[in-house]
Formats: sequence, C-alpha cells, structure tokens
Amino acid sequence: MDRKATYKHLVRQTEALFKDEAYFLPAAANLIAVLHEGLGNWWTGFYFVRGEELILGPFQGPVACTRIAKGKGVCGTAWNENRSLIVPDVHAFPGHIACSPASNAEIVVPFRVNQQIVGVLDLDSTDFNYYGEEDATYLSHLLEMLAKKWEGKLL
Ligand code: SME
Repeated sequence: MDRKATYKHLVRQTEALFKDEAYFLPAAANLIAVLHEGLGNWWTGFYFVRGEELILGPFQGPVACTRIAKGKGVCGTAWNENRSLIVPDVHAFPGHIACSPASNAEIVVPFRVNQQIVGVLDLDSTDFNYYGEEDATYLSHLLEMLAKKWEGKLL
C-alpha cells in the first residue's frame, strides 16, 4: 500500500473509533495506536501544552522525556513556530532531543483547537527520510477530527 492509501485506511479506522467515543483521552490514545501500528513508527505520541512546557501524553514506543520547554527540540520548536516540522535526519536538527538513540527521522504536527495550539503530535522513525508533506497533511486532518473531542470531557 502506498502512503496515501494507508492514510485513507487510517482515516476510516479513526472515524469508526471516534464515532462511539465522546471522551478525549480514549480517543487520543486510540489515535496513537492507529498511527503507531499503521505507519510503522518507532515512537508515536502527544505532548500537551501546560504553561511554558509540553507535557507527555498518550504514546506508544520506548519511554520518553516527560517535559519539553517551549522552543526546545523539534517539538518545542514546532510549538514555538506554530507549524509542522518534517525532519529527515534528526542528527542534523540543532537542539534535537534524543529520547531514543534509535530515532533517525521525525515529524511534529501542531494539535490545534479553535486555532490555538494545545499540543503537538510527534512521530519518530528509525528510517531516515521517513516523513514528508503528505504525512503532515493527513496527520493535520486526523488531528482536526480529534479536536472535536476536546470540548467534551477528558474521561
Ligand atoms: N525528539 C523530540 C523529543 C521527543 S521524543 O522524540 C519522543 C524533540 O526533539 O522534541
């Protein structure tokens, strides 16, 4: 399956999972599972904005750092610059935070609710050049679907 076909499948899977789930946390946790398995990432997870820091949310993969300051690492930079960052080689990204030494490529996409960034979605791969513009587009779409659960209860 090419990447576009994979995402079309993942969008349908997510629609089905979200249909019967009104709470934010289980919806977010399952979206992580969908993306982790479906894309074959090494690490897949959320960081949420709390004050001037990002705090670790639902994730799959190895243990990760729990706090990232604004402007630090790929995640803190994506938050600070309010945009998706596609990093083909993390070792070439100044200030990259190496939670796992096995990560070689990364994509970070802002999670916005009513135009405000409330977190970031972070995907890591052991393969270099693993993510591109198409990933950013589809991941943003999936995050828009999740944003509709934000107004509801966490649990
Ligand atoms: N590499 C990220 C840190 C989070 S981990 O990859 C899970 C960064 O530079 O912000």
